[in-house]
Amino acid sequence: MGFEHVPVLLDRVLAALPLKDDALVVDGTLGLGGYSEAFLKNNPAWRVIGIDRDAKAREIATERLKDFGGRFTPLAGDYRTMKTLCAQSGIEKTDAVVLDLGVSNMQLTDGERGFSFREDGPLDMRMNQSAETSAAELVNTLSREELTEIFRKYGEERFAWSVAGEIVRSREKTPVRTTFQLVELIRRGIPAPAMRKMNGHPARKVFQALRIAVNDELGALEQGMKEAFELLGEDGRLVIVTYHSLEDKLVKYQFREWCEEGLGILEPRKAEVPGEEEIERNPKSRSARLRGFHKKDLPDSAKGRMGPWRKV
Ligand SMILES: C[S@@+](CC[C@H](N)C(=O)[O-])C[C@H]1O[C@@H](n2cnc3c(N)ncnc32)[C@H](O)[C@@H]1O
Repeated sequence: MGFEHVPVLLDRVLAALPLKDDALVVDGTLGLGGYSEAFLKNNPAWRVIGIDRDAKAREIATERLKDFGGRFTPLAGDYRTMKTLCAQSGIEKTDAVVLDLGVSNMQLTDGERGFSFREDGPLDMRMNQSAETSAAELVNTLSREELTEIFRKYGEERFAWSVAGEIVRSREKTPVRTTFQLVELIRRGIPAPAMRKMNGHPARKVFQALRIAVNDELGALEQGMKEAFELLGEDGRLVIVTYHSLEDKLVKYQFREWCEEGLGILEPRKAEVPGEEEIERNPKSRSARLRGFHKKDLPDSAKGRMGPWRKV
């Protein structure tokens, strides 16, 4: 099966990386290698380290980027430990770190991975397929209260308690093993009038919530930003593309904190979003937001205040 993933906000990512000719860039969410390929093609002397915790993604990207030879190095692992991963390859500092969060189209469209409410398959959702906990495990073992908390916190699902109740009742008879079984329980948990008014698929929020929980996506982001900051050398850039408000808030507040501590500035000054043309060409880009941080030692007079970039 051939997989494709259209890189999101690629032109803005490239614009946010005005680096020297021989820069070393960490692509912390390699995916199918769309960003990495553009970095390597557009900048003949850049080197790229591509990290992904999904073995299939690494395999596809490595094949795609093989013509770049030693300029591209794939690394297996979680970007939250990027400093250690890079150190193991003898790299102590880099010029940029780029994170393009969430799942790739390959993960979404392959029913066997269990990320999609549109495809029937095992209720898995692990990005790293050797990780211990799958979505089925959470759904079949957590209490109604714990499931409700996940659906509310990570999916902002209004009917979290009721959906969790359907799951707990149903699993007493048969464990929930497939994506379509879960979709059916979510449908049952949402009252009919709310269902009629709903925009989009009724299972979207619960699936998002489970995926975030299974992969500890917000924990990875919080820790990953700190690792990235330490890995960046002087004048380093951190560029992050997020896909929902929980991620975006973490990035926004972390960048704001660094600015207030005088550790650098926002570049671009405000979050960037896709234009109408990109959304039309690639509807999956609709919720994307790019934020960038430029690490640099500011003069003392500029420290401790946000300056003109206050509005983030
Ligand atoms: C949106 S895709 C990246 C697409 C890529 N920019 C491209 O153009 O092909 C996100 C990728 O990040 C990976 N990923 C998400 N969280 C990760 C983490 N904490 N550590 C390593 N990889 C992660 C996923 O497995 C997925 O392949």
